[in-house]
Amino acid sequence: MDRDSLRQYLSFYQDLGVSTLYRRLKTEEQSQTPMTALPGLAPENDTLLKILEDIGDCKRCRLHAGRNKIVFGVGNEQAKLVFVGEGPGADEDAQGFPFVGRAGQLLTQMIENTASKEGIPLKRADVYICNVVKCRPPENRTPEPDEMEICGQFLYRQLSVIKPKAICALGATAAKALLGRKEGVTRMRGNWFKWNEIPVMVTYHPSYLLRPYNQNAKREAWEDLKKALHFVYD
Ligand code: URA
Repeated sequence: MDRDSLRQYLSFYQDLGVSTLYRRLKTEEQSQTPMTALPGLAPENDTLLKILEDIGDCKRCRLHAGRNKIVFGVGNEQAKLVFVGEGPGADEDAQGFPFVGRAGQLLTQMIENTASKEGIPLKRADVYICNVVKCRPPENRTPEPDEMEICGQFLYRQLSVIKPKAICALGATAAKALLGRKEGVTRMRGNWFKWNEIPVMVTYHPSYLLRPYNQNAKREAWEDLKKALHFVYD
């Protein structure tokens, strides 16, 4: 980690009220355990409101420079299922809510139509939806590792407060942030992983499914979602 990243890293913990950090030497076993990209710390008695307040008018990373609105997350604070995307696009940046553009409409359809076909009474408002980074990356580029790590502290806290029965990671960025794994979504999708003891289903990002030649991926994503919905709501 270079000096700038270290300074930023320490300042996250300062924001959380932690003033002293200890450096732990890696044991052989720890060094073989896949690291999760999210910095692992949540204050006691945390709430979504506190997290939002702590984010404030965030300028912790370069993404703040191009944003219109911080996109925190939306949905049921007691949701049993949380969807994690990558980061806001243009529509989300303008409105301040995640997944409200074309990819969002597809996600809503996927959730509500699959649930309805499976006999599960579930609407989009019953789940919680958020992203790895809360500000729109320029030109919708993939968030950089340092941006994911800086913003990841808030995703960590959101998930720790909601404590869903399962998480659905939408696409490679969410999978990497939650699971610290570099395999492509094609290899991971449809399988269960764990984030802090919470089962994580990895599937394709809805933006990928919008591409016309991805009919097969669409079918697979529907299968993944079905699996997640039955696991959570049966
Ligand atoms: N893509 C994402 O990853 N998140 C959004 O909120 C919208 C599009």
